[in-house]
Amino acid sequence: MVAKILITRKLPGSAIDNLAQKYEIDLWQEKERMPHDEIKKRITDKDALICLLSDKIDKEIIDSAKNLKIIANYAVGYDNIDVEYATKRGIYVTNTPDVLTDATAELAWALVLSVARRIREADMFLRSGKFNGWEPDLFLGKEVTGSSIGVIGTGRIGRSFMKKGMGFDIKWCYYSRSRKPDIEKEFNATYLSPKDMFSKCDFVSLHVPLTKDTYHLIGREHFERSSGRVILINTSRGAVVDEKEMIKALYNGNLRGAGLDVFEREPYIPEELLKLNNVVLLPHIGSATQKTREKMAEMACRNVDIALSGNIPPNLVNRELGLK
Ligand code: NAP
Ligand code: GLV
Ligand code: GLV
Repeated sequence: MVAKILITRKLPGSAIDNLAQKYEIDLWQEKERMPHDEIKKRITDKDALICLLSDKIDKEIIDSAKNLKIIANYAVGYDNIDVEYATKRGIYVTNTPDVLTDATAELAWALVLSVARRIREADMFLRSGKFNGWEPDLFLGKEVTGSSIGVIGTGRIGRSFMKKGMGFDIKWCYYSRSRKPDIEKEFNATYLSPKDMFSKCDFVSLHVPLTKDTYHLIGREHFERSSGRVILINTSRGAVVDEKEMIKALYNGNLRGAGLDVFEREPYIPEELLKLNNVVLLPHIGSATQKTREKMAEMACRNVDIALSGNIPPNLVNRELGLK
């Protein structure tokens, strides 16, 4: 019997078409997100699921799946999936690491430069017909070259972000659960707690996954230390930051600005954020290059193909299942 795969959205490239040569595909064709109830209904007889980071794959969905062998997330982050429960049920969970590292790290740099040099504001000013010629004090910003940047989470993307900044003569600080002698050596980086970063750095850039430990990792006690200096860059997950406290800090001047690709309750964006000039807000496009999104599709499809052939998929998140 041909195995059945549920895919919650059409993906860039031809990876799904290739998979369709071999398997029976149930592809959600709508532009709107596939409703939770619809996933729950259609998953019952499926052997594999390819889903988006915006699909909440909880106990309820996993319980209604009778034959499911693999949940292949079309993302590197997998906080949208109840991995613990999937593991209990013996279902593989996979993600798409590495292929999106460059795209996401370069988006973090785009945010650093846009907020520091006030690109969004300046562009809006020009478009609204206000540019009357060069002025000595028009849109004075913060110089990025020679500044100090704190990186929280020096995994694949955090490290790539540091590497890409080599030409900017950055004074690097970093924080991870453990010290990283290789990072200290390569970037002459200083190990600092997040709190110290907020009192010492010009920028703080977040690159940790969202877990129980990193939920609201950054909050009021951090912003209070910043006294108007720090620009916060978040391309990780919205809930790593206490968004309400961040907004307060942007209004009371403790934070100089913010570049945000992610939000606590996506796609909802608090009205107060939309009114601020010193923020750049992006609709979660960290990995959004044609090349990367096609590679992510290939990776997710490959994980499914390998799992359905009875082997351990290469990008396994719940590694304990690979040991059995
Ligand atoms: P990664 O290689 O696993 O790196 C994450 C790093 O975070 C690890 O090196 C880990 O280092 C550190 N970390 C984990 N828990 C921590 C904690 N409690 N405190 C401090 N550090 C902690 O993952 P990645 O590929 O770089 O991706 C990182 C995240 O970026 C993803 O999980 C995803 O949420 C987000 N992302 C967003 C976009 C976007 O579109 N905006 C795109 C891709 C990824 P230690 O183990 O040494 O602490
Ligand atoms: C995007 O946010 C990802 O985790 O891949
Ligand atoms: C600016 O355009 C300059 O030439 O300094």
